[in-house]
Amino acid sequence: MIKAIAAVGQAYELGKGNELLWTHPEDFKHFVNYTRNHVVIMGLNTYRSLPKALKGRTVLVLTSHPNGVELLQDSDIVLSGFTPDRVVDYAKSLLNEKGHDGVVVAGGGYVYGTFAPYVDELSLTYFEASDKNADAYFPADQYKTLLKGKVQELLTITGADNKVGFVIKSYRAN
Ligand SMILES: NC(=O)c1ccc[n+]([C@@H]2O[C@H](COP(=O)([O-])OP(=O)(O)OC[C@H]3O[C@@H](n4cnc5c(N)ncnc54)[C@H](OP(=O)(O)O)[C@@H]3O)[C@@H](O)[C@H]2O)c1
Repeated sequence: MIKAIAAVGQAYELGKGNELLWTHPEDFKHFVNYTRNHVVIMGLNTYRSLPKALKGRTVLVLTSHPNGVELLQDSDIVLSGFTPDRVVDYAKSLLNEKGHDGVVVAGGGYVYGTFAPYVDELSLTYFEASDKNADAYFPADQYKTLLKGKVQELLTITGADNKVGFVIKSYRAN
């Protein structure tokens, strides 16, 4: 099974200027739990936006410009010239080799789109906010079928202390 995780605004905004638009400690905890001991697939833009290494996970960084990519930890791997099929096969091959529990797609906009056909479970955090200046969006159209599948509400946090509230929903294919 391939999972994906994203946090979006009301118009599926993902980010701006290669940064997240909204964060919340409880959503961060969810991200950590959801991706723990997983192979994590992400594009170079998203990798470059990480503040620090994702410890205990193997990050596969996709780019067609592999030279000079600085890894945040030695176990992360840069993949170049791989079709999405090959990326998925390679990610699965690491499960046994590294003792990981699963594979999760973690963005950004471009990579969510590329891997949409492979994703069986999606965790979406919906922040109660919107930003017209966003420049990266979650490709909801490409996840239409999954978004009409079995839905489970995982967590609701109301806004307080200048923090934007959110609801986390998990979607699975019927
Ligand atoms: N809210 C959230 O949950 C969330 C999660 C993740 C990211 N984000 C946000 O999303 C934004 C970044 O998204 P993005 O769409 O700009 O970029 P992205 O999806 O992170 O990365 C796109 C890049 O990945 C490389 N790539 C993707 N697929 C590839 C493949 N099969 N083979 C080789 N290279 C491949 C390409 O890099 P090259 O040009 O080097 O070839 C492409 O330009 C940021 O604002 C970030 O903060 C938000």
